[in-house]
Amino acid sequence: MLEKFIKDEKAELILEGKKYELPIIEGVEGEKAIDIRSLRKDSGYITLDSGYMNTGSCASEITFLDGEEGILNYRGYSIEDLAEKCSFVEVAYLLVHGSLPTEDQRQEFSRMLSDNALIHEDMIHFFDSFPVNSPPMAILSSMVSSLCSFYPEMTENPFENIDKMAARLLSKVRTIAAFSYKKSKGQPLVYPRHDLSYCANFLNMMFDSPVKPYEIQPEVVAALNKLLILHGDHEQNCSTSTVRLVGSARVNLYASISAGISALWGPLHGGANQAVMDMLENIYHYDNGDFMKYVDRAKDPNDSFRLAGFGHRVYKTFDPRMRIIKKACNEVLEALNVQDPLLDIAKSLEEVALNDEYFLKRNLYPNVDFYSGIIYRAIGIPNNMFTVMFALGRLPGWIAHWKEMWDDPNWRIGRPRQIYIGPPCRPFVEIEDRVAE
Ligand code: ACO
Repeated sequence: MLEKFIKDEKAELILEGKKYELPIIEGVEGEKAIDIRSLRKDSGYITLDSGYMNTGSCASEITFLDGEEGILNYRGYSIEDLAEKCSFVEVAYLLVHGSLPTEDQRQEFSRMLSDNALIHEDMIHFFDSFPVNSPPMAILSSMVSSLCSFYPEMTENPFENIDKMAARLLSKVRTIAAFSYKKSKGQPLVYPRHDLSYCANFLNMMFDSPVKPYEIQPEVVAALNKLLILHGDHEQNCSTSTVRLVGSARVNLYASISAGISALWGPLHGGANQAVMDMLENIYHYDNGDFMKYVDRAKDPNDSFRLAGFGHRVYKTFDPRMRIIKKACNEVLEALNVQDPLLDIAKSLEEVALNDEYFLKRNLYPNVDFYSGIIYRAIGIPNNMFTVMFALGRLPGWIAHWKEMWDDPNWRIGRPRQIYIGPPCRPFVEIEDRVAE
């Protein structure tokens, strides 16, 4: 698929007086790349790029992201349109299949989600084996990996069964997430219902109880729907690259996604949504609302503290998802008649940072995680479940990338190189002659 994007002109590189010509590739939105795949073979040189600041790991048809202009499109559709006009199920279908579903396709996909919503009853015993305060991301990643043992039949010919596997994962991860919450509360599990939409079903499994039936509010369903859509995919971020890298060893989808969940857990990645809320709560409860203390700490070169929910590797302007979430946050809080002092603190922090030389110089803007936690909190989801919510939203993106990687004719096992800087080759020392180094 890459061949048709190769340009006629070539880049020239001179090493030790010898000229090498390297192909130039240009994507559909004008992003340019130098193809260095044959460089080591031809010259003996590798390229060094810690943190992959400047490395394209693949060509992809799924998501376009322009960090300078603040543009995000899934399969060519703007995030603004999708968040406004679609359900999460439609967007999941779009990401995995490449086109928006027709009404018949949507119904069939919803039916598959409904059919796959239960988890094997034996898996429910797993929840009892985790200590009460286990991090929900640890539970989620273990449970997803174990799906492979309970549903092994599709791992043989994954590409043929990808539709079923996608529906199974999307549906079962939702159930696992809700069950882990119920277990952590010591409450009876609430099983999925066939008559509820994807988001309403999740909320019902989370919050319904025999002693207090949950009233499904359309504003809450709409807010959750939007949040999941906005987290649906974000091209080659840390967790998605992890899914692709693990999957590149031809490992099954469940194991690859479980690895992605572990990557997402980190506070520099998906864990930031929980970190934002912890930070706002600390400001409110322990620092008397003194947010400037946190701004000053973030700017202090001798303090490793960072403002959670600020900055992004790719966006050098506003994250377009943040704008949508901020608006949704105002709307849902108003609809639910919630006055949250943490929202005021978040807005004040944003305003100060956006006018501060330190943040301006480094292009540090609020990211997708900055306001999402305030919505989750308003709809009753506890802080330690925020990153699980992110995983639920990101699932279709991970599946789409795994599928694309699996079917890519240019597929190779992911295996970066390195520059060795350890001790040079030295003679072996017998144990009796060794001294501590
Ligand atoms: N607060 C204060 N300073 C910051 C912040 C922040 N949140 N983020 C970056 N900086 C500063 C760095 O200290 C550095 O300053 P320096 O040039 O004086 O050394 C400069 O900005 C560049 O930072 P890098 O770490 O080089 O940027 P990188 O692209 O590697 O990191 C990241 C991006 C990890 C998102 C970073 O901005 C961060 O840690 N943010 C807070 C955590 C967060 O919100 N993560 C969620 C990201 S969105 C997502 O994953 C879904």
